[in-house]
Amino acid sequence: KVYRASTTAPVNIAVVKYWGKRDAKLNLPTNSSLSVTLSQADLRTLTTASCSSSYSATEDSLILNGSPSDITGARTQACFRALRSRRSALEAADASLPKLSAMPLRIVSENNFPTAAGLASSAAGFAALVRAVANLYELPDSPAELSLIARQGSGSACRSLFGGYVAWRMGDKEDGSDSLADLVAEASHWPEMRALILVASAAKKGVSSTSGMQQTVATSGLFKQRITEVVPKNMELMEKAVQAKDFASFAEVTMRDSNSFHATCADTYPPIFYMNDVSRAAVRAVEKINEAAGQTIAAYTFDAGPNCVVYYLEKDEAAVVGTFYKVLGSEVGGWKESAAAHATDIS
Ligand code: DP6
Repeated sequence: KVYRASTTAPVNIAVVKYWGKRDAKLNLPTNSSLSVTLSQADLRTLTTASCSSSYSATEDSLILNGSPSDITGARTQACFRALRSRRSALEAADASLPKLSAMPLRIVSENNFPTAAGLASSAAGFAALVRAVANLYELPDSPAELSLIARQGSGSACRSLFGGYVAWRMGDKEDGSDSLADLVAEASHWPEMRALILVASAAKKGVSSTSGMQQTVATSGLFKQRITEVVPKNMELMEKAVQAKDFASFAEVTMRDSNSFHATCADTYPPIFYMNDVSRAAVRAVEKINEAAGQTIAAYTFDAGPNCVVYYLEKDEAAVVGTFYKVLGSEVGGWKESAAAHATDIS
């Protein structure tokens, strides 16, 4: 008999960025963060987890977008271990349950966006993996509890266990048991939110987030100010902006926080540059759009790479997306592809 469960998890793009670990083993952050989840119709990972005592393989395995993928890394192993031990506890309490925890796991995972789009897929990937196995094991854990496990796979993944507007509360316990995702607002609270993803380069980033943030923590003076002053203020302003559906404030905090994050990268020694000339052209384009509108109708943000995500409201689609294409088309080369994504619920 083969036991099987499937699930999907969305991509999330942070508007207050996670950057820095206080514990690399448990993957505990130096600051809280907040993200907007993108619609699954546009960007998501679909994962099927199965197990069977009749599988010929004795080891766990993962097929990612059609190719076998390495699962021996400490982070992936931590997720498998946590999920298995929860299942074992259920089996120990109820002898009638099949012993799934003793069977090899087979995970098959696929993104509905090209990996070449240069988007960080680890968030959706780990979130989908954790939920698929949790479903297979029929674990009673809530999304917040599962976010504790996904966090150990990749920090940003904990925010993809929810849809809508999601905070990752950094917590202060040493064991990390309070460092989890928290739903700030459902997508339906502010369904007009849209995201435009501009791909400047599909190439894999030079410095991975994991090692980049470690270098920043170790060498940047600006970073200390970011985690003690800048981020706490941005988290407070951002939560208020989302609650009040105040786009101008949402946009300003989003842009300021992205700028602050990239400033700490530049203040890292040796410096880390994720944004390039094409990225900076997108910043100027957003400024032009806002100037022309006489108010803030678009916000840019950049993760650990040159690609730009622009947030805007549905009513401003023509002004933002239309102008963006015109400006970029006439003045800037290098944008490979782009996609408009809706910020919606994951249910
Ligand atoms: C810039 O979650 O990829 O996208 O925990 O080491 O896997 P690890 O890092 P990761 O870092 C994401 C960094 C970011 C900001 C964010 O998503 O908050």
